[in-house]
Amino acid sequence: MNTSLFTPVRLGQLELPNRIAMAPLTRMRAHPHTHAPTVLQADYYAQRASAGLIVAEATAISPDGFGWANTPGLWSREQINGWRRVTDAVHDAGGRIIAQLWHTGAISHPELLDGALPLSASNVNVQHESVTPGGRKPTVAPRPMALDEIFRTVDDYARAARNAIEAGFDGVQILANYLYLIAQFLNRATNHRTDSYGGGIENRARFLFEVVEAVLEELDPSLVGVKISPMHEGGPFAANDETLPMTEYAIRELDGYGLSHLLLMGNTTDFTGTPLEPLAGDGMFRHFRPLFRGTLIANVDMDADRANRLIEAGLADMVAFGRPFIANPDLVERLATGAPLEAVDWTTVYATGPHGYTDYPTLERV
Ligand SMILES: Cc1cc2nc3c(=O)[nH]c(=O)nc-3n(C[C@H](O)[C@H](O)[C@H](O)COP(=O)(O)O)c2cc1C
Repeated sequence: MNTSLFTPVRLGQLELPNRIAMAPLTRMRAHPHTHAPTVLQADYYAQRASAGLIVAEATAISPDGFGWANTPGLWSREQINGWRRVTDAVHDAGGRIIAQLWHTGAISHPELLDGALPLSASNVNVQHESVTPGGRKPTVAPRPMALDEIFRTVDDYARAARNAIEAGFDGVQILANYLYLIAQFLNRATNHRTDSYGGGIENRARFLFEVVEAVLEELDPSLVGVKISPMHEGGPFAANDETLPMTEYAIRELDGYGLSHLLLMGNTTDFTGTPLEPLAGDGMFRHFRPLFRGTLIANVDMDADRANRLIEAGLADMVAFGRPFIANPDLVERLATGAPLEAVDWTTVYATGPHGYTDYPTLERV
């Protein structure tokens, strides 16, 4: 029990009792029309309040940025009030929770946008799936953002950050990886712009840094983190020879802002034969640790042994668990005692109602 994972750590202004973060997990339990979190979500997060830090599920910054059915937003009064109920429940249970700011860009779909085309850096179809109220549909070619739409979107991030604090969150995390808008700007294959937001690495990263700086005009850097990592996914998000240099550049620059944390994902797909091959497994953390001096949260396929090893080696300050938190609200206690973990029921991960959401047992209830 006296291992690194269970020693306290400071994250910005927060004192965390352990080094276990709950990774952000989309669970599709928000109100389908208002996109406000529900009472059910307050219960769900409060059940997991023993995590050193909860990173709440990805949350749309604006109606334009909304792109996944039944997920929450942070632009309206109703959403702020709904989140306030969640953050109060987590704080009452002794926890800490930050919001994850999300713009889905080309992953959205006209059915989620009152018929409008999704916005992105360019008109490249990301060849993925959109999760619409009517089920999963192939993505469409998005509409390239005009300059004024880029400026407005940067402002939307700042407003969402302000709203997050008003809703009682202990900070925010900007989602800059996966297949979403910021990553669509960073990626050469989805950004064909010829203005100052496209072209070389520095131009493609401009949107990310404008977002970070706009959020920092609202919030102290000790309240702001970023989730980023080089990824290898299908279609235009296959790793190319600029994926790694782009992420290195972004992380080096992010280091200069004094942010509260960086959430760095390890590989979720096989990197063999791609330019990211040396970053497989712990390679990701070995590679990027020297580039970021702030709190680094390592993620993907963690267990207590690996987590302790990474922390003791100085390759991470904290670790984030995603899937294990779905089925184990008391994951912290289970890791501390070596108790077995419950398995996830994947049929209820993206479903409605409490089943498979708030009814997973804790150790006392098994
Ligand atoms: C059901 C599910 C939903 C997820 N939703 C999000 C999300 O909203 N935002 C995000 O950044 N990552 C999301 N992820 C990725 C997780 O945060 C995490 O990075 C990933 O599951 C790897 O960690 P793990 O191996 O501990 O599960 C999701 C993953 C799963 C399985």
